[in-house]
Amino acid sequence: MLLSFVAPQAVKAGAWIVGATEGPVLLAAANRADAAAGGAIARALKTSRFTGKAGQSLEVLAPAGASASRIVLVGLGKASEFDGNAAENLSANVVGALSKAGEGAVTFDIDVPKGAKLKPGALAVHLAMGARLRSYTFNRYRTREVAEHEFHVKSVSVLTPDAPAARRTWPAMDAVAEGMFLARDLVNEPPNVLSPQEFATRAKQLSKLGVKVEVLGEKEMKKLGMGALLGVGQGSERESQLVVMQWNGARGKAQAPVAFVGKGVCFDSGGLSLKTGQGMMGMKGDMGGAAAVTGAIRALAARRAKVNAVGVIGLVENMPSGTAQRPDDVVTSMSGQTIEVLNTDAEGRLVLADALTYTQRTFKPAFVIDLATLTGAIMVALGTENAGLFSNDDKLARRIEAAGKAVGEPVWRLPLGAGYDKMIRSKIADMKNITGTTNAGSIAAAQFLKRFVEKDQAWAHLDIAGTAWQDGEQKSLAPSWGVGWGVRLLDRLVAEDYEG
Ligand code: BES
Ligand code: MN
Ligand code: ZN
Repeated sequence: MLLSFVAPQAVKAGAWIVGATEGPVLLAAANRADAAAGGAIARALKTSRFTGKAGQSLEVLAPAGASASRIVLVGLGKASEFDGNAAENLSANVVGALSKAGEGAVTFDIDVPKGAKLKPGALAVHLAMGARLRSYTFNRYRTREVAEHEFHVKSVSVLTPDAPAARRTWPAMDAVAEGMFLARDLVNEPPNVLSPQEFATRAKQLSKLGVKVEVLGEKEMKKLGMGALLGVGQGSERESQLVVMQWNGARGKAQAPVAFVGKGVCFDSGGLSLKTGQGMMGMKGDMGGAAAVTGAIRALAARRAKVNAVGVIGLVENMPSGTAQRPDDVVTSMSGQTIEVLNTDAEGRLVLADALTYTQRTFKPAFVIDLATLTGAIMVALGTENAGLFSNDDKLARRIEAAGKAVGEPVWRLPLGAGYDKMIRSKIADMKNITGTTNAGSIAAAQFLKRFVEKDQAWAHLDIAGTAWQDGEQKSLAPSWGVGWGVRLLDRLVAEDYEG
């Protein structure tokens, strides 16, 4: 898809999109379009339910001789509520509908409504971002009806009085979109293709952007004593991997890095504590945390963020076999702590335990945030609207909450505490990997992770089991099963609080 920012006088190609706030109050460009159409919009409004609410639209055919094919009046909602997120959702919905209708070109001609908290250049960039995120497709495995599934809109022009500002800030936004697309691709890939080694191979490609990528195999991990991670992968024919990605963008500064750790279970069958057929479907996406971390590092590198950042992902396949880990096994983690594995399906926390220890001991990071499709219970608590946030650091938690809100990836903080920690006491080892009840399942998992957080280390855990992929209604900005959730949040957190 071709995106361009052009001056408002430019020729309007394809669908000409103009706006109205609630009332409806037509913005200046909408009035110009109405005049160009000989008052067709005003006439159509008389017999329409269009009030300018967000999500509404009204379409009229462009008059003969016009450069545009049609004029679409879209609702912006209340001016005071029209922000970057609203603009993105609007443009995503518009281009999504027009793509389905077979339109090939779209021209956004939307003024900043009076009272909105947006500069013209920023509005233009958000309109472009909404279109860009909506244009994502994953058609790699189709051999037929490919054209029907392609995104039809091939060119999007955004008219803006501040095209220079939009062109200046767009590359950074585009870098984030690319990071999200990488994360979506990884989540959408089937598990026969995306093995731990294949994932590692794809992560290595970030070296083209200046990221230092190291891959540890089972031999190296054994030397490091990563018995928890290795135990999860030992039933699989495929080798487990730990991928370490470093983006050193804080030039000339010995700055402690920020660290992201991702759960990368390329397929979660449950292991010997086997899932049901139903429960196993979608478990190719159990590497969504690792995908988000990889996508975030890609975004930071592509926009040359002035930060030192590391991404560490534990990649395994959780399979049942004669060599698989058993319920009742006791494993020793890299931290030295022992774990009684009572359920091989509570494997994500085992992978993260060693990845967390490795990350903290190797990099002494300013903070560490782990992302994981960790528990089904987080969906019981929060559904698919919010990811679960757990943290030992209020300041970090507040920053994550703010970043998530700003980019439309909201999180909701849940508690930790000694009472919950008791739930994972083991009869024979330092801890067990399940509680034995269904109470507070997501918190118990977070408490488990907290046991691997070292002294004075700021840490947060994001349980993204409800947000990494979508089985129900699709989000306007995420048209595929894999959402790419978390890339934007992490990028924003860095941009807002840890750069420069
Ligand atoms: N990957 C799953 C969590 C999950 C479940 C993510 C459903 C998305 C949708 C995780 O490894 C798991 O199996 N967790 C168990 C934990 C239980 C055995 C304590 C769960 O949630 O049932
Ligand atoms: Mn599991
Ligand atoms: Zn899992």
